[in-house]
This record gives sequence, structure tokens and C-alpha cells, in this order.
Amino acid sequence: MCGIIGCVSEKDCCGILYDGLKRLEYRGYDSAGMAVLGETLAVFKKKGGVDSLAAFYAPGNTGIGHTRWATHGAPSDENAHPHRAGKIALVHNGIVENHAALRRELEGAGERFASETDSEVLAKRIARAYRGDLLSAVRDGLSRAEGSYAVAVIAEDRPGELVAARRKSPLVAGKGQSGAFVCSDIPALAGMAEYIARAEDGEFVRISSGEIEFFDASLRPVPKTFFRAPQAETWLFAAGGDRMRAEIAEIPRALSDTLGALRQTDLAPCARALRTAKRLFAVACGTAYHAALAFAYAVERDAHIPVYCLSSGEFRCRPPLIAAGEVLVAVSQSGETADTLAAARLAKERGAYVIAVTNVGGSSLTAAADFCLVMRAGAEIAVAATKSYNCQLLCLNYLAAQLVFFKETALPPWYDALGDLPAAAQAAFSAFADVDRLAGALTGARAMFFLGRGQDEPTAKEGALKVKEISRVFAEGMPAGELKHGPLALVEGGFPAVCLSTQASLAAKSENTLAEVRARGGYCALFTQQQKWLKESCADVRCRLPALPEPLMPVVAVIPLQYLAYKMCLARGLDPDKPKNLAKSVTVE
Ligand code: F6R
Repeated sequence: MCGIIGCVSEKDCCGILYDGLKRLEYRGYDSAGMAVLGETLAVFKKKGGVDSLAAFYAPGNTGIGHTRWATHGAPSDENAHPHRAGKIALVHNGIVENHAALRRELEGAGERFASETDSEVLAKRIARAYRGDLLSAVRDGLSRAEGSYAVAVIAEDRPGELVAARRKSPLVAGKGQSGAFVCSDIPALAGMAEYIARAEDGEFVRISSGEIEFFDASLRPVPKTFFRAPQAETWLFAAGGDRMRAEIAEIPRALSDTLGALRQTDLAPCARALRTAKRLFAVACGTAYHAALAFAYAVERDAHIPVYCLSSGEFRCRPPLIAAGEVLVAVSQSGETADTLAAARLAKERGAYVIAVTNVGGSSLTAAADFCLVMRAGAEIAVAATKSYNCQLLCLNYLAAQLVFFKETALPPWYDALGDLPAAAQAAFSAFADVDRLAGALTGARAMFFLGRGQDEPTAKEGALKVKEISRVFAEGMPAGELKHGPLALVEGGFPAVCLSTQASLAAKSENTLAEVRARGGYCALFTQQQKWLKESCADVRCRLPALPEPLMPVVAVIPLQYLAYKMCLARGLDPDKPKNLAKSVTVE
């Protein structure tokens, strides 16, 4: 959940590290630091976001940088990375699970620690192993570390050299005109690296004399194929303002690009697995999990087979039902979420066919899967997922349609309307004026419900998640029918409930739900495209959604809810791009 970067550049590397860290800041932003090696090794680290490094400059073309999301030790200058030990400076992403035992051992040998972090243990061990050969020292220093790590290490007497290693935390290497790099993710290298290669678990990377070499656990060279890095313009970073708002504005473009990519994707390789599947499994976390729930609904409705949809973390905690020949669909914006990766690998071990839906081609999930649908949402930097959710829904609807085709040789009737989604997303923005009023009315709200039946249940859950993480207001998303089985006890004068109603056949039930809330003095907002089907008086606020074939409504119905969370966040004086305690990419379990 931290971001690391390292480079050996043609010129001074301070600016390169800073730009890279700004792009990695979505992975954590409670402290940041850099080490730059020129004639001397200069280390600068500070509590606070990457901006706190703007004033730092040291000459040198070899450097490492870090942006932190605290796990061991509170955010502070001391706990910030890089950690210095002897001649070594190190940055780390991951968790060293046996750090306490290793620390005790090192203290017994006379070492004194400057931080409370698990990472400093690695720096100390590497420094003790270092005798001029940095690669061997990193291998030896990490040999007893349990848990996860991606590290980048430099030594004060080895300018022009950098060694990195990975185990269960993401690490890519890239080369471009300005130098050679290692980094936690691919998008952060866009515009700097022209060619990219991924390090696998247990591998080491060395940059020296402008070359990038990979080594296995025994330090034997590993040949690698470098692939073209994404064009900088496909990973445009929202300029100015806050990113969440900019990313909501990008939804129509993201949908249109994703549709273009899907139409060029040949699904023939997964046809057999899908045609013969009698049931599917779907796994994901957080927002992506809600997309997976929507997928399950679509497949059951149109392909008439059950989908077991689980939060990735739970997949391994349950009796393992998935078997050889079955299909697992793993959904992850980043393609690096630890639980989703572990679920995909477990399914593979059991002989299942794994389909990944991700925003990052070349991510760890794409490597673990048999087949990938790569969406084209573009870089999503804001911690709260927005445009990636809409694109996940598009990809998963597309996959559901192909599944129907493979099974029944006909596409579902809504298939052609996929092309209308970008325009419908644009049209959904016209609900924002209504949402502004709703957000104004919710200024004092301490808790709220999001209610939806059928295909609207995942949307309700996603609306609630957005409000929780960005506005820090407790929100629960649930099937509307559950209300009277307990949650209704909380409804009293002014208690807000947001109800989604996008299916004509369920409109009357939505009206009943709203009536139950209003009868107890609750404050009701209704989001629907079916203005005629629900009584004008059934809600305090109505927000109009654009009309589409019903099965595609979830792709756009969520947009005003994403915006609602954003407006509630601003009304509370919070920063939408830096929600408390959260980081974008959860690469630890
Ligand atoms: C919520 C959010 C998270 C992610 C979750 C999975 O706004 O962003 O809930 O959806 O951590 O991340 P990915 O999709 O990268 O696997």
C-alpha cells in the first residue's frame, strides 16, 4: 500500500523521483521521502504528502523514493522511508511479518533502530550483508524475511547502481531515454519509460551501466521480454482541481475507449470454458466486488446459470468448491489487489480457467489469468474508484453477452445499446443539479441508507461505499426488502434514504419501500429513469436518470451517486482525493 520508485538517470534524478512519487501518491500519502546518490548519499524524508519533498534537492543520478501508507509505526519523519543503515538506503512496500523476531535478533547484535517500522529491519540486514556486492547483499538480507516486499536499495559507494527485489508486492522495471527505473506500478512510469518488464515473485532486478538485468532467487540471470509502456496520453493525469471530480468527468470517454478495446478483443480463447460452464465464480474487493455482484445478476438473468460471487478475501476462507474446468472471473482495477490475486492463483491451482477484468494491462492479475479483458479507463488516481467501476460494468456486461452467445448462439437484446453508454453517461451528468440540492439537504446527516432491489442492489452498495469513504458519513447499502428486517429501527425524523429504481417490474416495490421510510419521518431521495411509474409524491427529492435498456442502467445509475459522495465530502470540508486511512491499491492481505 506504499509506492516505491528507483532510478539511475542520465541527469539529476530528484525531479524524476518527485514526478514518479506524485503519480504513486494514490498508494499512500502519510509520509514521503527520497535518497539521492551523487558524491554523497543525501536522504530527505517527511511526514505528509509528496508535496513536502518539493523543497528538497540534491545532485546525483541514482536515487530511490517512497510514499507511505503506514502499517507499522505511525506516520512521522522517523518512520518515513528511505531507511538508512550503514552504507545502504532502502525503500519498501509490503509487510515483513516476522519483523519483531528479526529486530530482536539485530538488537541483540548491537543494532539500534531509528524507526518503529518493519522495513528498517530489512535495511539493517542488507547493510550487515553488504561487502561491495549490492545484489548479493540484497539477496542475503532478504533471505529470512517473511511476508511481502518490493524493495529498492542503493549503496553510498555504488553510484549508478540500484538493486530491487519483489515478493508478493508489485514491481516493474522500465527503460526510456532519461534512464532506467523500478517502480510499484506501470502507470506511474508512463512518459518516462518506453519499455517495461515485470518482476515475478522471488526475482531481483539490477540497474547498472544503464542496463536492466533480472535474476532468479539463486542470482542466475533471467531473460525478460520488455513490452511497450502505455502511451503517456492514455494515462493522462487529471490536471488541476481534484482528481475524483475530474475522473467522474472522464466516464463518457473511458466508456467509449473501453468499448473500442472490447470490440477488438478476440474472446475465442475463452469460448470453450464459457460454453461448457454450468456455473461461474466471481471474485473482487470493494468497488470491484460490487461490479462482480452486478455481473452475477446479469449472467443469472441472461445466461441462466448461477454465479457464486465472493469478496476475494473470503474466497480462500470458504470450502474450496471451484474445480478443474470451472471458470473464475477476477475483477480488479489495479490488477494488484493481494486478495484478488491470491483468489485467482488458488483457482488456477485447482485447475480452473481464470478470466481477469482489469484496468492495467501487464498487472500481476493479467499474468495470473488465462484470459484478460483490459478496460481503458485510463489512470485512476483518486482513491475512490469511479470511472473504473463504470468500465468494469461495461466489460462484465460484454462478457455476459458473449457467454449468452457461446451458449445460445444469439446475443441478448440489449447488446447493441452498449454503444449508447458513453452518451448516456454524459446525459447522467444532467442529474447533478438535483444532486447538488440533495447534498445540501444532507449536510447534517450522520448516517444514511442506500436501497435497491434486483439489479439496483449492487448500485446501492456502491453508493454507500462511496459516501462512507469520501464523506465519512456512515452509509449502508442493502436490498430494499431487508429494510423491515431490522434497519428500519434506525429511521426517524429526517433520516435519509436514497432509493434506486431502474426496473419497471420492481417500481411498485420501490414505492412501498419509500412509503415505509416516509411513514417514519425519513427523508427520501429517488433515482430513476421511470418518472411516470412512481408517484410524484413518493420522495422528497427525485433525480432523473437517462433512459437505456433496463439491463444497462446500472452502468450510468451510479454516476449521480458517485457525484453525491463527492459533494457531501466537499460540504464537510474534506479532501476527496485523500480519504482517511485508505490507499488506492491494497497490495497487502
Ligand atoms: C473504493 C475502492 C476500493 C477498491 C478495492 C479493489 O472506492 O477503490 O474499494 O475497489 O480496493 O481494488 P482493485 O479494483 O484495484 O482490485
